[in-house]
Amino acid sequence: MIRDIVIYPDKKLKEKSKEVEEFNEELHQLLDDMYETMVAKNGVGLAAIQVAVALRVLIINIPQEDNDGAQPKENTLEVINPVFLEMDGSTKFQEGCLSVPGYYEDVNRYKSIKLKYQDRYGKEHIIEDDDFLAIALQHEIDHLDGKVFIEKLSIIKRKKFEKEWKKKQKK
Ligand code: CO
Repeated sequence: MIRDIVIYPDKKLKEKSKEVEEFNEELHQLLDDMYETMVAKNGVGLAAIQVAVALRVLIINIPQEDNDGAQPKENTLEVINPVFLEMDGSTKFQEGCLSVPGYYEDVNRYKSIKLKYQDRYGKEHIIEDDDFLAIALQHEIDHLDGKVFIEKLSIIKRKKFEKEWKKKQKK
């Protein structure tokens, strides 16, 4: 089922998500719905808080360039209760967000990260990356802590964004 996406500046996006304790059918339904919603909106990542569920759950599915940008469900990385173990270096990348539709801006991130997380069955895994996945994970984990990428912009860019966003919302 496709769920509604919470749009900035909805206060829900500022909420800090709670750890998942039960890896049950309800969680699996949430993950399945998040996948459907993300694909329907042409996103590459989605945090549970973006569908108004304050749990430490996120998904990422990087489109396959050699397959017409397809995002098969079995390629979805489902990350529950992530914890950073290492982060290093820095990089800049143009980010967007399904909660801030149509807006893209460069954001500074760590270049490489290592984190531990649980899958939908509660099994623990470790993942390391120093490419696009590392950036996507940092973006989505920010959502779990109530942060949206525009909060990382410079004051000047942020002011410009807020002005344009208000104008757009009135339309
Ligand atoms: Co986002």
